Amino acid sequence: MARETTWVELPETRYPILFEANWLAGTSASCRDVLAEHVGKTALLVSNQTVVDLYGDRLMSELEGVKVDLHLIPEGEANKTLAELEKIIGTLIKQQHTRETTLIALGGGVVGDMTGFAAAIYQRGVPFLQVPTTLLAQVDSSVGGKTAVNHALGKNMIGAFHQPRAVLMDVAVLKSLPPREFAAGMAEIVKHALLADVSYLDWLIKKQDLILQMDDVVLSEMVRKSCEIKSAIVAEDEKEQGRRALLNLGHTFGHAIETLSGYGQCLHGEAVAIGTVMAADLSARHGWISEADVERIVQLLRTFNLPTELSESLDIAAFQAAMGRDKKARASGLRLVLLRALGRAEVVSDFDERLLSETLVRFLKV
Ligand code: NAD
Ligand code: GLY
Repeated sequence: MARETTWVELPETRYPILFEANWLAGTSASCRDVLAEHVGKTALLVSNQTVVDLYGDRLMSELEGVKVDLHLIPEGEANKTLAELEKIIGTLIKQQHTRETTLIALGGGVVGDMTGFAAAIYQRGVPFLQVPTTLLAQVDSSVGGKTAVNHALGKNMIGAFHQPRAVLMDVAVLKSLPPREFAAGMAEIVKHALLADVSYLDWLIKKQDLILQMDDVVLSEMVRKSCEIKSAIVAEDEKEQGRRALLNLGHTFGHAIETLSGYGQCLHGEAVAIGTVMAADLSARHGWISEADVERIVQLLRTFNLPTELSESLDIAAFQAAMGRDKKARASGLRLVLLRALGRAEVVSDFDERLLSETLVRFLKV
């Protein structure tokens, strides 16, 4: 497969998302030219042990002539913290990185979000590149410039908008992903289809077997399609003043699930899958989509091996408090992303509180 490029067009900058199969998982392709364009004399490669063992050497070989330092973050969502972020900054200072350095995030969304945030704040901002290695990071977190760490009281509460200079994909790295992590990425893909493009939903249903068999051509098309949907929305609304909030379909519920069940217990994508079903259920209670539509969503998520309900009850009052701390909430109250139709999401503030309570009772009492 030849290299393809999608551009993220923003008011003040633009950057490429490169799709180049086997530049990282194999040696039959290369991204040396793009790396050389964006990386100067020094770089800090941020990753974790699993990913660096798999792909670190290959990336290093593509960075010939650059002085590359390495910083490893401990695995998992529970380490997406200010304390771990400070250690990245510590490495940058100890290794005497200047404003001319480039940070490179090699890994999933945890590595990407933390590296991006470190790049946003180190010496008031340095460039960074995203090299996403999970499906979730390829279709969602590496694109759009949202960077953050968690707080004990709320997910992604501390962060900044800081766009990468480029995103370098290789779908072949998805072959080494544990199945549960692959499924987690599918949750964000189903989300993209539900919020923006019903024909993409039909395509996912039609191609589900090939997706599960990890067919190269179908995976490439899917990752590219999701990146296009996300890029178009980010291009319209970089700082989430309006339309970008739609990308949080399922996330107000999902973030509350993650916060209350303990970061890392339920994967982000799994929480998003359950949150998406909760948003669909509430949309159906308002009469905007049908029960059959909700069932179609549930079936598709299950096909991709995702949970569609909790395995343990959560306290409703604590859940409502966590939802109230969501970044979409305003002083005037909670706002939820709901489905007006399949393929058409909307931020809603005048939802029926009674119907929300019904959804919460149905999903939180197991
Ligand atoms: P993750 O970063 O924790 O990675 C999942 C696991 O997969 C890790 O254990 C990692 O070591 C392993 N791994 C990564 N690549 C691998 C590969 N190719 N082969 C084998 N193992 C591999 O999880 P994630 O799902 O990628 O990211 C979740 C995070 O992304 C959450 O913190 C979420 O909040 C964030 N996120 C951010 C945005 C955004 O816009 N910034 C959007 C969506 C999600
Ligand atoms: N994941 C939501 C966004 O990037 O806006």
